[in-house]
Amino acid sequence: MRKKVTIVGAGNVGATTAHWIAAKELADVVLIDVVEGIPQGKGLDLLEAMPIAKTDCHILGTNDYADTANSDIVVITAGIPRKPGMSRDDLLQTNYKIMSDVVGKVTATSPSSILIIVSNPLDAMAQAAFRQSKFNRERVIGMAGVLDSARYRSFIAEDLDVSVENVTAFVLGGHGDTMVPLPRYSSVAGIPITELLSKEKIEAIVQRTRDGGAEIVKYLKAGSAYYAPSAAVTEMAEAILKDKKKVLPCAAYLDGEYGISGYYIGVPCKLGSRGIEQILEIKLTADEDGALKKSAAAVKELCAVIGV
Ligand code: NAI
Ligand code: 2OP
Repeated sequence: MRKKVTIVGAGNVGATTAHWIAAKELADVVLIDVVEGIPQGKGLDLLEAMPIAKTDCHILGTNDYADTANSDIVVITAGIPRKPGMSRDDLLQTNYKIMSDVVGKVTATSPSSILIIVSNPLDAMAQAAFRQSKFNRERVIGMAGVLDSARYRSFIAEDLDVSVENVTAFVLGGHGDTMVPLPRYSSVAGIPITELLSKEKIEAIVQRTRDGGAEIVKYLKAGSAYYAPSAAVTEMAEAILKDKKKVLPCAAYLDGEYGISGYYIGVPCKLGSRGIEQILEIKLTADEDGALKKSAAAVKELCAVIGV
């Protein structure tokens, strides 16, 4: 039997995630939204693409949570995206209300699922979902680091004119202006980028990565990025569905790791069928540790506003 993935929010990120998951034949997909007609229309359109994509995934669009029952993974993209001039944090109150509504419903219908949280502000929304779901921390994961790292890798590959496949990189911390890209752990075919790029160039790439979301918002005006975000969700879902034990940067609830307790923050995680199967602790320099703690303080501030 194929696995089942529910995607809550049939907007840009949700529908594009459904597309990637179905095209890769990872699971049957249920697309659910509060707006009537949109998930049904997008779901049917995608289903009709499957003969051409040569995959047998079933896709269902719905407004009824009964259709989502017993999903293996629930991806939550429901919420509003930012517009030019808005920060991710401006979405806090609206998306918190939406997150509470959605988590209540999906935990009732899919009590054994793994939740992948996407809605912004990401780390605070992951924390809200974790608190409300009462799932163990292995089963509530935030998506941000895979996206931020992919942006970072794209810019490095473009600058050095090398294959993106050669570039590995890590971005830690919260999904926001305080994210912590780690040049020390970034390499091209194993060669540290510090050997290949000047300090100034690396700093420029790091800054562009921090501003990566805003750069897209500035172009789109009416919304935010969705191709790279949905590809990032799909990589996480694939690692879980196939029990790959893949190490990816994810927002995880820390309980003492990195000297942080009680908050979601981006760290290297091993993803497998149980969700986050391990949080990898790497040694940070004093500067990196300071940046991670600053990032955690920003997440803590947002969580305090919504009391989670
Ligand atoms: P969108 O506006 O295209 O889609 C959001 C969808 O959520 C809409 O279809 C809306 O009807 C639906 N929705 C609203 N309330 C709902 C509810 N109670 N139940 C079910 N569905 C509901 O927005 P987009 O671009 O898909 O972004 C979604 C969220 O993901 C935003 O908060 C955005 O900031 C965030 N995001 C986070 C990223 C990350 O790295 N963590 C990357 C990209 C987006
Ligand atoms: C991004 O980084 C909007 O958080 C989203 O593109």
